[in-house]
Amino acid sequence: MVEGGFEVAIRLPMSLGESPVWSAQSQTLYWVDINRGHIYAWQPASGEPPDRFDLEEKVGCVALCEDGLLAAQASGVERLTFPLGSRRVRLADNPEWRAGGGNRFNDGRCDPSGRFWVGTLAADEATPSAALYCLTDGELTQRRSAITIANGLAFSPDRQWLYHADSPTRRIMRYPFDVSTGTMGDAEVWVDLDRHDLPGVPDGAAVDSDGNYWCALYGGSQIVKFAADGRWLESHALPCPDPTMVAFGGADLRTLYVTTATQHLDDTGLERYPLAGSLFSMPVTTPGLPEPVVA
Ligand code: BGC
Ligand code: CA
Repeated sequence: MVEGGFEVAIRLPMSLGESPVWSAQSQTLYWVDINRGHIYAWQPASGEPPDRFDLEEKVGCVALCEDGLLAAQASGVERLTFPLGSRRVRLADNPEWRAGGGNRFNDGRCDPSGRFWVGTLAADEATPSAALYCLTDGELTQRRSAITIANGLAFSPDRQWLYHADSPTRRIMRYPFDVSTGTMGDAEVWVDLDRHDLPGVPDGAAVDSDGNYWCALYGGSQIVKFAADGRWLESHALPCPDPTMVAFGGADLRTLYVTTATQHLDDTGLERYPLAGSLFSMPVTTPGLPEPVVA
């Protein structure tokens, strides 16, 4: 059963909205439009529209830093100081990038120890030439390879599991995780969308304080909630086909924000789903976890 509950938080015509991240410190929601290289910053309590900072390249995701944001742009990871972009420092190059093309950075997030994890996306979105990386102490190391579209990165509240999805496989994997060393154990199929008869592919996700995994189903018009043991719990419909990622925000972390995309809609699709590309929100009962800050 699919129930709704989402409303438009900010109406936008984003191409590929992604990577919502809530800063508890500044009560600000950040997110990106990957394809346009835009970073948005919005304080819901201010009553003001979001601010936007434009980069020269696509930007897969952002993470929180003490005095700014980390931005995984197509060609590499940069640290942007507040006010955004007042200072920019290149931290790591994307080893899969080459001038004019290659696999860009995609989904990423900070682990509870302050390491930044980020995956890539195969340029043709079809060959498993992408990978998952971890950036720690200024060094980017490859942790998994043979991925096509890296997505769904999240950590369980007890820090025992790292979740990850290669979207086209329609499976969400989990790996035993050692938070003190950042080591991953062997992969285990945790959720298989085929077995649940769910539509679309697993995209971005966030875990709440009970350990439930909330996942956007790109092409599936819904956000799905799975229990820590992999059981399907709820589906929440959206008025557009391509939700991309979720984040818990608001003063009590009880607002679920969702970014969406228009990149795969033709004119008929855009007419049929006029709210596609917007930022959506829905109140939830179980709060999220505060997003860690990059060390
Ligand atoms: C990628 C998109 C892709 C989507 C669904 C996103 O993370 O950035 O390009 O279409 O996942 O696989
Ligand atoms: Ca994604």
